[in-house]
Amino acid sequence: NSGKTIRIAAIPGDGVGQEVVAAGRMVLDALAEDSNGAFAFEWTEFPWGSDYYAQHGRMMAEGGLEQLRDFDAIYFGAVGWPTIPDHISLWGLRLAICQGFDQWANIRPVKFLPGVTSPMRKADDTELDWVVVRENSEGEYAGMGGRNLGGRPPGGEVAVQSAIFTEVGCERIMRFAFDLARTRTRKHVTSVTKSNAQQYGMVLWDDVFNRVAKDYPDVEVDSCLVDAMAARFILQPESLDVVVASNLHADILSDLGSAMAGSLGLAASANLNPERRTPSMFEPVHGSAPDIAGQGIANPIGAVGSAALMMEHLGFPAAAERLNKAIEGTTAAGVLPRDLGGNATTEEVTSAIIDNLQA
Ligand code: NAI
Ligand code: MG
Repeated sequence: NSGKTIRIAAIPGDGVGQEVVAAGRMVLDALAEDSNGAFAFEWTEFPWGSDYYAQHGRMMAEGGLEQLRDFDAIYFGAVGWPTIPDHISLWGLRLAICQGFDQWANIRPVKFLPGVTSPMRKADDTELDWVVVRENSEGEYAGMGGRNLGGRPPGGEVAVQSAIFTEVGCERIMRFAFDLARTRTRKHVTSVTKSNAQQYGMVLWDDVFNRVAKDYPDVEVDSCLVDAMAARFILQPESLDVVVASNLHADILSDLGSAMAGSLGLAASANLNPERRTPSMFEPVHGSAPDIAGQGIANPIGAVGSAALMMEHLGFPAAAERLNKAIEGTTAAGVLPRDLGGNATTEEVTSAIIDNLQA
């Protein structure tokens, strides 16, 4: 084997995260085996998450970021379990990695797959295809604020949660969105804002967007308030190509988009450090799904789609294409998991994707 050994840190985390990461690893290993030695994976699994918390009182090992730093990429499942408050599990692991490694761009394509019926009329893979680009380092999830400020009496507590918008943070995510739009047919960027109500942060966001847009005269632009954007996702999804939005807005809108495409279980995402100073992290958009965990019915497509984004980032676009085609071949053949109206198990969908790698 003369090709590249790709070193990946796998963090399955909690609930269905375990099931879909296992599925994604099987697909990636099958892909490597069939790559004529172009690449192979060396996996290291980290048992971090809610069980780890129960034993050690923390979500990840002390110095965990340093253990991850030298990997080529991180393949993540989901974190969160009913026994632990969600803000502790999220900040203790996923946000700790995203923010600690400055993975400032979160890319969330919304794919409409053949053979999957969208709850929307006239919405399928021939009509709809867009990408949500999420600012992933600041904004509403900057973690700035406090509780019980000024020692108010019981019943009078005050909490402040501030949103941070920096010119540098806005500019880099917008340039990323414009550069991405240039690689696509439509070449259109829509900025999501709320500058009518949030007159400081979101007005800075708008100012930077308008300034950056001037550097991309070949890309069409428009700007849309987030509430109107929610309606536009449903009513005029064909008007969307690249959608750039703040941390919170993009978090919400991308769940809406993937539900429209059929299920949250389909949605893939990449948390990128575009400068490549730190490993990037690839994960399905969905959470740990405690309601279906352990039943073998989780949809692995979001995790496999995230693996495709990982291969693209690592410089193997043909491998990424093969993964996406294998997903499409699987849904087109009607091999659909429960959340897409079928009855295929995680294992059956995974095997079908592996078979379709040959197609
Ligand atoms: P969720 O995404 O886990 O589940 C929402 C709904 O989608 C559930 O009905 C679930 O069954 C379904 N679903 C999710 N993934 C699926 C899959 N692969 N196949 C089939 N159906 C799937 O969101 P929820 O319930 O709000 O959160 C559960 C836990 O996950 C919480 O602790 C939350 O904090 C955490 N979470 C973690 C995320 C992450 O690690 N990136 C993202 C979102 C939530
Ligand atoms: Mg979310």
